[in-house]
Amino acid sequence: MKEKKSNFSGSIGFVLAAAGSAVGVGNIWRFPYLCAKDGGGLFLIVYLALVLSFGFVLLTTDIAIGRHTKQNALKAFGTLNSKWKFLGYLTFLVPALIMTYYSVIGGWITKYFCTYVVSDGSILSQDSYFTSFITSKFSPIVFMLLFLALTAWVVYRGVEKGIEKFSRFIMPGLILLILGIAIFSLTLSYTDANGTVRTGLQGLKVYLYPDFSSLTVKRFLGVLLDAMSQLFFSLSVSMGIMVTYGSYTKNETSLTKSVNQIEIFDTVVALLAGFMVVPAVYVFSGEAGTKASGAGLMFVTLPKVFEQMRGGTIIGILFFVLVFLAALTSSISIMEAIVSSFMDRFGISRKKSVAICIIISIIMGIPSSLGNGAWAHIKILGMDFLTFFDYISNSVLMPIVALCTCILIGWAAGAKTVTDEVKRNGEKMNREKLYNVMIKYIAPVMLVIILITYSMAQFGFFTM
Ligand code: PHE
Repeated sequence: MKEKKSNFSGSIGFVLAAAGSAVGVGNIWRFPYLCAKDGGGLFLIVYLALVLSFGFVLLTTDIAIGRHTKQNALKAFGTLNSKWKFLGYLTFLVPALIMTYYSVIGGWITKYFCTYVVSDGSILSQDSYFTSFITSKFSPIVFMLLFLALTAWVVYRGVEKGIEKFSRFIMPGLILLILGIAIFSLTLSYTDANGTVRTGLQGLKVYLYPDFSSLTVKRFLGVLLDAMSQLFFSLSVSMGIMVTYGSYTKNETSLTKSVNQIEIFDTVVALLAGFMVVPAVYVFSGEAGTKASGAGLMFVTLPKVFEQMRGGTIIGILFFVLVFLAALTSSISIMEAIVSSFMDRFGISRKKSVAICIIISIIMGIPSSLGNGAWAHIKILGMDFLTFFDYISNSVLMPIVALCTCILIGWAAGAKTVTDEVKRNGEKMNREKLYNVMIKYIAPVMLVIILITYSMAQFGFFTM
């Protein structure tokens, strides 16, 4: 394609754009609910250990491959080694799948934001509101289309104009707001029908305290798998996006610094979102509620928190606007990856690629949306459509892509391809030894274990 390739304006532009992709629904919606489901502290420890080891390795690898080859994901792997061309195509599948259900969740956020704007939001704090909304036929689809249309509009205008500008003001705003709400959550207190008083500080203990008492190998594996899938999803790694972003990065940019900053950004937002949501869920629905409430956690709990605040409606609007924008910057990055691959592969214009992407997303997004209500009886491997797409992309495809990337870099192309790229400007790579051992041995072995256990659990050899 002859269209000019976008470049980030500098190191900070790159970090912000990458953080814009990484920080989104994954941090604010997915992280707290997985953390609550897996019993707080233990999940936190496992997740943090994975960020520092796995996350660092995968993110560095993706970005370095992009910058080294100056190609997007579709071509980058084949450029490194012609036998690994297939990995480009495999990688392309991941954002294509994620796009279809990400816009459904983006639609839910849009709906909440709009409801806060037109009312005082008290209706949102009713227990049944979330369920009755997501099970309805048309409304979630309409909001999904709205979210999709906005994403497409920004992508149509091109990368640098769209993403960089957006992220510059969203990220700091989002962090400050979440911090404020998190502090407020800790001051909450609630007396239930039995007269039991639960406070935010007790909830904090549920969030942070690792409960090893009922720890079994099976439970630990379950936590490990959840944390792993969360890491892929949250950091936007192993799906070609960071490879493509890496290819837009200037040679003078420090990769080590950028990787650290992106990881810190992403993890801090997720941890703060946990502070904001998990103690509040405990206050309103007790420890059992914390474990049982699942995917609706943020949507059900936060409106209750806002209801307790003075000026809660304004905070509700602000919060959902910022989460909406964070989700938008992520979905822009997902669509950008798909669109630029289409343009490259088929030599078609940006406009046509965006159009094709919208059509596919609508066709596949509708089942994800209806799967909560009208089509709830249709199950794939026991899961509704949205959960199934989430599962296939985060727990199957991404580990496979990551495994292939580790073998390509660790064994076929050589870890030097990446470490030399990192040290290109004469920089030191502090964790070089860790990188070499991880990419060659530890990461592939762990990924194989994870893939095998996951498939065995899925096909009923044991339950997790
Ligand atoms: N990382 C984004 C989030 O946390 C989601 C995302 C997934 C973005 C895949 C790009 C690619 O919400």
